[in-house]
Amino acid sequence: MTFENELKSIIESINRNIASIVDYKVTEKTIADAMNYSLLAGGKRVRPVLVLAVAKALGGDVNKALPFAISIECIHTYSLIHDDLPAMDNDDLRRGSPTNHIKFGEGNAILAGDGLLNLAFEIIFDEIEKSNYNSYYAKIGKIISNASGIRGMIAGQIIDIESEGKAISIDRLIEMHSKKTGALIEAACIVGALSAEREDYLDIIREYGKNIGLVFQIVDDILDYTGDPKVLGKNIGSDKENNKSTFVSLLGIEESINLSRSLTDKALEISKEIDPSGFLSDYTRYLLNRSK
Ligand code: IPE
Ligand code: IPE
Ligand code: MG
Ligand code: MG
Ligand code: MG
Repeated sequence: MTFENELKSIIESINRNIASIVDYKVTEKTIADAMNYSLLAGGKRVRPVLVLAVAKALGGDVNKALPFAISIECIHTYSLIHDDLPAMDNDDLRRGSPTNHIKFGEGNAILAGDGLLNLAFEIIFDEIEKSNYNSYYAKIGKIISNASGIRGMIAGQIIDIESEGKAISIDRLIEMHSKKTGALIEAACIVGALSAEREDYLDIIREYGKNIGLVFQIVDDILDYTGDPKVLGKNIGSDKENNKSTFVSLLGIEESINLSRSLTDKALEISKEIDPSGFLSDYTRYLLNRSK
């Protein structure tokens, strides 16, 4: 199978399973509608693909990894809904559609984000219980909560807000990106390894995740300048409008591209070692060269 077809089939399986795992059983239709609106709107599904690709590369069962992959996508989707709010980046287009608050109003968008965050942990605890308290699954819960919390994604988002309109150092910028975007991407890779019960690979997988996590946000910053909104599914120019500190604002486009290439090379050394099938290496290149 070509890389493109394999990726397409993994994403299709994620999308099929999101609809079945995410079974709200709630009395309030509005919250389910608002959560589904963003969760099922598409998106590249980068984090769940990474969970499954790492699990598979290390000999794990992809079906066992799937609920955790979906829980991370729920957290990622919540972070996008809140990131787009007027109080944060104030964006009105996401995943090719009007942002959640434009469609449902700010109050409902805040609650849809909260609902998705909580749902992620409902899914994780269900899996822990069903597995009769498998300790690897408990570790997965800890990794995901840390990565999305105040030492991870939320810390990064706070740094992002506090860095608006300021000249921050490159180290501070790397810290911000590593936390706001890198932490969850790194966690996705680690979760793949833990679901395969391969703790012996954690250090090397963490290193891989750190590199591609940073690359991911550098490319996101570049696409905010050079991307095509029709392809990207979100408007460009948001960072400049909000006076954000980004790789492009600090280093310029050329140097940002060079840095993302050299980080990708480091990640490729690892992906070649852990996945002889080549899928993870192809995916690593895809993350660098993406246009959406
Ligand atoms: C966008 O994430 C926000 C960042 C963390 C950079 P993605 O580029 O993964 O967005 P979707 O999931 O494909 O919509
Ligand atoms: C978003 O970063 C990071 C999180 C949502 C945690 P950005 O603000 O750069 O993401 P986009 O460009 O709006 O997708
Ligand atoms: Mg933002
Ligand atoms: Mg944003
Ligand atoms: Mg961005």
